[in-house]
Amino acid sequence: MRRSLKFLLLALLALTGTAAGVWALNVRDEPDVSEPVSAAAPEASQIARGAYLARAGNCMACHTTRGGAAYAGGRAIDTPFGTVYSSNLTSDAANGLGAWTAEHFWQALHNGKSKNGRLLYPAFPYTNYTQVTRADSDALYAFLRTVPPATQPNTPHALRWPYSSQAALWVWRTLYFSPGDTMSPEGKTASNPAQKSTAKPAAESALAATQKSASWQRGAYLVQGLGHCSACHAARNALGATDKQPDLAGGLIPMQNWYAPSLTSRSEASVADWNIAQIVALLKTGVAPRGAVLGPMAEVVLGSTQHLNGDDLTAMAVYLKDLPLTHAAPTTTTTAAAQSSKSPPALAPAPASVADRGAKLYEQHCAQCHGDQGAGVAGAYPALAGNRAVTLSQSANLTQIVINGGFAPATAGNPRPFGMPPYKLVLDDRDIAAVLTHIRQTWGNSAAQVTELEVNRVRATSTN
Ligand code: HEC
Ligand code: HEC
Ligand code: HEC
Repeated sequence: MRRSLKFLLLALLALTGTAAGVWALNVRDEPDVSEPVSAAAPEASQIARGAYLARAGNCMACHTTRGGAAYAGGRAIDTPFGTVYSSNLTSDAANGLGAWTAEHFWQALHNGKSKNGRLLYPAFPYTNYTQVTRADSDALYAFLRTVPPATQPNTPHALRWPYSSQAALWVWRTLYFSPGDTMSPEGKTASNPAQKSTAKPAAESALAATQKSASWQRGAYLVQGLGHCSACHAARNALGATDKQPDLAGGLIPMQNWYAPSLTSRSEASVADWNIAQIVALLKTGVAPRGAVLGPMAEVVLGSTQHLNGDDLTAMAVYLKDLPLTHAAPTTTTTAAAQSSKSPPALAPAPASVADRGAKLYEQHCAQCHGDQGAGVAGAYPALAGNRAVTLSQSANLTQIVINGGFAPATAGNPRPFGMPPYKLVLDDRDIAAVLTHIRQTWGNSAAQVTELEVNRVRATSTN
């Protein structure tokens, strides 16, 4: 009896100990939010800087619905755990940030907590934004206060239990989040006196990083922080946390069936061998001699990178070129379609019947733009021969572009992009599999067959 009591007591102690640990890890580095809203009007230059930073963070993309008021929120973001809705960021006092202080805003960006202390869902990429400096956070806040109020109330999230509970977020954050957690370039600690040191054993890479050029530091700050490139270009684990080891090594975007290729692999989307001007052109105009952006990446260029200045784009290019290379594409992440197919596609050439069918379909539907030999037309139609996007081990993007068609983004540098027509109603799954297999196994291209089942899966989940 006494023994079991003692045991109970011990267990209770252990439990409260764990809870205290989880609590402590979640309140690290928190600001004091008791300050009242400042009446002082921000400087015009700070507002302009905030508007620019909002572009760098592509805040608009998630916080505005198609046809809705700017920054009024309400955009649905589907996740494997349910649907999350973005918040109203306008200056409306009841529904937006009108009653927020700069401290509250910093707490959201840096600590992932709302004004009332509610833990925010990481569908809001605060795991990246936590690296933003206090000065940049204040500029963003100053800008958002100038956004005309929209009275649109926030939509409640529709998540399944236990993901809908704050307790789940407490645990998630203990495992995967610490404020400003990786290296902090651009003299972040200097410009950010409010921040306590959160030095982690990542010190080694941080040390290497301090020896890089100022341009590299700036690029790292933009790519890792506001640019939130890893939100798409890194694999996610079963709890939706992005892979940091290695960073930017490619990932399937949850629920969308688009694959954001590895920025650290030569066979995927590394730009190590591109020159700076080509990388800047891709981010500025959406097209470059060696590729054009598609789908979600076209949205990134459209809403964000095309608006950045030459120095910042050059800085990003310097950093991207210098990312450590991983030798092979990650093989653990496969498309939903490939995962569930019983016989995974082999790198064997397709049977003659499929090859013939694919060749005929290509001639009939594709050759007029992409050319008989897949050479494309410079400045208009991308080459398919020798194109990394065509031979990616993940075939999801190819299926997406053939089913839904697509445009590179319309940018100042490429104002009238050529389009690729959708084949949703023209070709069935078997045809699409055959024509894609053809372009992956002709003109020196060598990649696995695309199966009818893979096409079917992408078609079934594709939203447009
Ligand atoms: C990938 C989509 C996405 C992007 C990009 C994004 N947000 Fe959000 N944001 C969300 C979602 C979803 C929420 C709601 C999270 C929640 O309620 O738990 C949110 C919530 C917020 C909140 C908390 C609002 C509240 O009422 O608690 C703030 C502040 C915010 N975002 C600011 C920004 C800023 C500033 C940027 C650009 C630098 C930005 N967001 C970019 C998706 C995004
Ligand atoms: C919303 C998801 C998303 C975000 C955020 C994102 N990307 Fe991408 N990116 C993609 C997808 C999907 C592709 C593959 C389609 C394509 O080739 O354009 C891609 C492709 C690329 C490519 C290869 C383009 C080519 O034609 O070879 C580069 C380089 C790239 N992204 C860089 C970046 C950088 C730098 C950032 C951060 C500023 C970023 N991406 C942010 C989804 C994203
Ligand atoms: C009317 C001209 C046209 C036709 C016909 C056409 N395409 Fe395209 N295709 C384009 C354009 C333009 C793009 C670039 C779109 C973008 O950047 O979003 C493109 C992009 C692509 C890409 C992505 C290449 C990359 O670098 O990411 C693939 C793959 C592709 N097309 C395959 C096909 C196949 C297969 C067919 C036939 C079923 C076809 N296309 C028919 C114009 C065409």
